[in-house]
Amino acid sequence: MRNENRFLKYPGTKITLVKDIQKEFVISGRRIFVDVFGGSGSVSLNMQAEQIVYNDIDPELVSIFKAVKMHPEEFYSEMCIMTESESDFLTYGSKPVNWKNKKVRDAGISFHNFTTGFGGKGETYSTREKGAYQYTVKVMQNYNIIAKKVKEFTIENLDFREIIAKYDDSDSFFYIDPPYPGRNWYNFSFSMDDMKDLKAVLSKIKGIYLMNFNRDDPIPKEIFGNPQYTIKYENKNAPPDQEYRYYAYYTNLKKK
Ligand SMILES: C[S@@+](CC[C@H](N)C(=O)[O-])C[C@H]1O[C@@H](n2cnc3c(N)ncnc32)[C@H](O)[C@@H]1O
Repeated sequence: MRNENRFLKYPGTKITLVKDIQKEFVISGRRIFVDVFGGSGSVSLNMQAEQIVYNDIDPELVSIFKAVKMHPEEFYSEMCIMTESESDFLTYGSKPVNWKNKKVRDAGISFHNFTTGFGGKGETYSTREKGAYQYTVKVMQNYNIIAKKVKEFTIENLDFREIIAKYDDSDSFFYIDPPYPGRNWYNFSFSMDDMKDLKAVLSKIKGIYLMNFNRDDPIPKEIFGNPQYTIKYENKNAPPDQEYRYYAYYTNLKKK
């Protein structure tokens, strides 16, 4: 694990992009960082800003962050129960228990579901669970830092149209990382109409936005045109022909 704060294992996490996002946020001079499509929280968890708004439309994801914010110790105890042993991890959530706080228990089950669900795409069930178990144990070693950060979050559970309308003023910086239409990795997917709405919303925005897509995906170019710039990232543990990934960035931030 690198030095960044990690919490949920989640498809499409932008942990490798965090330094570049932070740089643009600082240049923008804005106060409020709004993570419109917050997902795993990897970006919010690693940003330095006066106010961080974590948002996602998925109530299950949001309930995990709310549990950490409101009941950090209880959530940690839940993680301890989850990881008592590898076999406990495998059966976590399926055995009846006397929970003290149902919201925390449910959030623990959701954390477990997300973390074991996608991270090991293509691996066998047991290898995937093993990876997820070790991953969760590592997350716990850094839990105090994560919980402290989440405590400061403003947590929202809104559609992108509503969250942007709610926070749109000259103090806000919107980080935009939507799902890719047709790639149904999430509980809530994105349609071409959503992409077109996003374009309309961004064309009228008062705040600064920064949006990213995989450089080689065709739909963003079709909808938004050419990006302002592209950045190359090392693709750790990838086959040799996919050593690098390229992200296309779109922004209304004018550089001096
Ligand atoms: C590409 S992922 C974001 C990944 C995130 N940046 C990270 O580092 O983990 C896209 C997220 O958008 C959320 N989402 C889908 N439709 C949405 C909508 N209409 N409004 C807000 N969030 C939405 C999904 O639940 C998913 O978590």
